Amino acid sequence: MARIIGIDIGGTGIKAAIVDVDNGEIVSEKIKVGTPDGAKPADVADVIYDMVEQLDPQGSLPIGACFPAVIVNEVALSAANVDKSWIGTNVGTLFETRTGRKVHVVNDADAAGFAEVKFGSARGVAGLVLVTTLGTGIGSALIYDGTLLPNSELGHINLPGYRWRTAEQLAANSARIKGRLSWTKWAGRLQVYYSTLEKLFSPQLFVVGGGVSKEFENFLPLLELNTPIIPAQHFNNAGILGAAALAQFND
Ligand code: BGC
Repeated sequence: MARIIGIDIGGTGIKAAIVDVDNGEIVSEKIKVGTPDGAKPADVADVIYDMVEQLDPQGSLPIGACFPAVIVNEVALSAANVDKSWIGTNVGTLFETRTGRKVHVVNDADAAGFAEVKFGSARGVAGLVLVTTLGTGIGSALIYDGTLLPNSELGHINLPGYRWRTAEQLAANSARIKGRLSWTKWAGRLQVYYSTLEKLFSPQLFVVGGGVSKEFENFLPLLELNTPIIPAQHFNNAGILGAAALAQFND
């Protein structure tokens, strides 16, 4: 059994567990701590060290982490909803130095999307699967025949008729909460978003993740699309599972 520690770093919380990456099962307790105030790189690295030592005391299990930014060769190249000091930080090296373990870092939506294709609701789907996560921002993952095309960042596109705001400013779950939008009103915005993605990519399947996907019955049935659209299976565990699964290919 190949075991890797999966860690999902978000703006408000950090979640971690040991994952059996052969079958996508969590094989330890799942721990969650609040993201340190300001979410500065060194503080987050300290939290990660503590979590890893709690899960695997003095062990050497490698780490697969995911983070809400563009990640190329382990380096963060954006910081839409996290501290700007992450930009240019080699997140992999930062965590490797702090934990003394092997670390692989990917974008959070890429991790969640990969988990859904490998172990979840899009398992076995051929062609293009487009996974979006609706949370503080909107994350996206493009997966073609099981291969991830990383860093698609489709939460930042402009939508027809809404030129002054990006998709995530309009249609993330945080926009629904902040604007006290009814499900119907929010679904109207999601309709524009997913219709645009459908025109651009003609995917085989949309998968919708993020915490709000648990409440999919309130909004997915309101959408009229030609492409099937389904909720994610792993909800908030998807980042942990996918980050761990992607790390095993990094040897
Ligand atoms: C970031 C993405 C991230 C998404 C979800 C966006 O603001 O640009 O990198 O995947 O939020 O966290």
